[in-house]
Amino acid sequence: MKKTTLGYQKWREKHLTPLTGRVAVVTGGNSGIGFESARGLLALGAEVVLACRSPERGADAVKRLQSEFPGGHVSVELVDLASFASIDAFAENLRGRYEKIHIFLHCAGVYYPREARTVDGLPTTVGVNFVGTVRLSGAVLPLLDADCRMIFTTSLTDRFGRVKGGDALAPDKTEGYPAYARSKHLLSAYVCRAAATRGEGQPAFIAVHPGITATDLLSPAKTSHKPLFSRLGHAFLYVFTHSPEKAALTALWAAAGNVENGACIGPCGLFGISGFPHRTRFAPSVRKSACISKTFRAKKP
Ligand SMILES: NC(=O)c1ccc[n+]([C@@H]2O[C@H](COP(=O)([O-])OP(=O)(O)OC[C@H]3O[C@@H](n4cnc5c(N)ncnc54)[C@H](OP(=O)(O)O)[C@@H]3O)[C@@H](O)[C@H]2O)c1
Repeated sequence: MKKTTLGYQKWREKHLTPLTGRVAVVTGGNSGIGFESARGLLALGAEVVLACRSPERGADAVKRLQSEFPGGHVSVELVDLASFASIDAFAENLRGRYEKIHIFLHCAGVYYPREARTVDGLPTTVGVNFVGTVRLSGAVLPLLDADCRMIFTTSLTDRFGRVKGGDALAPDKTEGYPAYARSKHLLSAYVCRAAATRGEGQPAFIAVHPGITATDLLSPAKTSHKPLFSRLGHAFLYVFTHSPEKAALTALWAAAGNVENGACIGPCGLFGISGFPHRTRFAPSVRKSACISKTFRAKKP
């Protein structure tokens, strides 16, 4: 493991294996948990591609990572999960650049975004967190084989998501928390099902949730919440929850730890809000939505 200012070194040395020669893609890698995951992957020796929607924020993240990991391989590719055309172009680009992606970490996400609709007319939260993520996963799937890992960042809120009347793309009046919980519920159910029905030659499908942490997810520039609410929310999370660096350990364990297809990983602390990663289970409501309630369960250690 390369020398850095990364924390939790003992835990990293005990649970993570080197990734030299491996290629990892991180969506949302310019910020928050995605950025911390990219740091951790670079420290393990992986070549990292940050999949970002903003060229400026992507380039800035590459600069910061290069100054911490001189000689590390990190680059940026553009993708906007709110646009099918952008997702398809990104995947085609990636297929032209690489024969194989060993780790694909879906980390990009939004909470109560300012834009009501995606380019393709979907409600943005579900459109980005679920529909765009799943479309991207399908578009890059041919690049990942059986010894690769497709990792999805879901949330503790997945169990509270409701899909009324089977309408996953429900109208805007449910934007905000209900739409976020619904998007993560659908995503978890997708991962649960993909793992259970995994075809020969397909990668391991793994769900991770980071607990709760203070990132830009609630920043006034990104959410429709009132700026004061966003700032107070961020300050509260900053004081009372674990750091983005620690929150990223669940993704790093999924990427470089002893983790199998169908695993669901979250922090081990009270209510799964913070702490070091451990195996947990998909919530019953998620398994029900995946229609495999009794046929598939991630084992506890
Ligand atoms: N923070 C928490 O407590 C928490 C809890 C549970 C789950 N999560 C999940 O963790 C993941 C990372 O969130 P975070 O907390 O690290 O927040 P963050 O700092 O805001 O990071 C979100 C990332 O997603 C990117 N993104 C947003 N919309 C996108 C789009 N349309 N196309 C491509 N990229 C897009 C953002 O890009 P820009 O920088 O350009 O906006 C940013 O890089 C999300 O999936 C979130 O739902 C977070």
